[in-house]
Amino acid sequence: MVDRAENNDVGEPVDLAGVRVWQGWLDRAAQQAMLADLRAVVAAAPLVQPVTPGGRKMSVRMTAAGRLGWITDRRGYRYADRHPSGVVWPPIPDSVLAVWRALGSDRRVPDCCLVNLYRGAARMGLHQDRDEGDFAWPVVSISLGDDALFRVGGTERGARTRSLWLRSGDVAVLGGAARLAYHGIDRIRPGSSDLLEGGGRINLTLRVVV
Ligand code: SIN
Ligand code: FE2
Repeated sequence: MVDRAENNDVGEPVDLAGVRVWQGWLDRAAQQAMLADLRAVVAAAPLVQPVTPGGRKMSVRMTAAGRLGWITDRRGYRYADRHPSGVVWPPIPDSVLAVWRALGSDRRVPDCCLVNLYRGAARMGLHQDRDEGDFAWPVVSISLGDDALFRVGGTERGARTRSLWLRSGDVAVLGGAARLAYHGIDRIRPGSSDLLEGGGRINLTLRVVV
């Protein structure tokens, strides 16, 4: 279990255009424990390299845990109740749910924990998370491994953006007016963390879908 009491130096969140970033929310031991839980997720639901509806390979590799997983392929962006291989998604680990309860909501659990693996030149273009049925719930985003340059804009494309390097253990919350903020990852800093075997960065995004 991870909660405030176990984190010594977590201060107030940094406000990035309404997105709140809790820097250092997870200490090293908590990060390692979460990573061990994620190994079981990936063993049950292997990472895949997704394709956009337009046919472009995404640079991240992706899987999910929870009742629903977010997927993309030629047929579109959507939530699905199974991994592309046909297996049901594994449950969201308790270590991850604890972060949701503390910073997202204690009124219900998320439907989806999307797992994105960034290696090398992987990035994520500016986008909104808008495939969910109810935007009243926040999106909680956990960073593990290499540093990542996070960019946040407004709720309309073309609005001014601000950037911040996310580090291992940071948790960003997109809620309230920032729930539909455009956001993306410009690049990671390969080799900046030794948390992941083989390097890279894992991002977890927790969402209520329905
Ligand atoms: C995402 O928006 O899906 C990922 C954000 C991140 O990797 O921090
Ligand atoms: Fe997103």
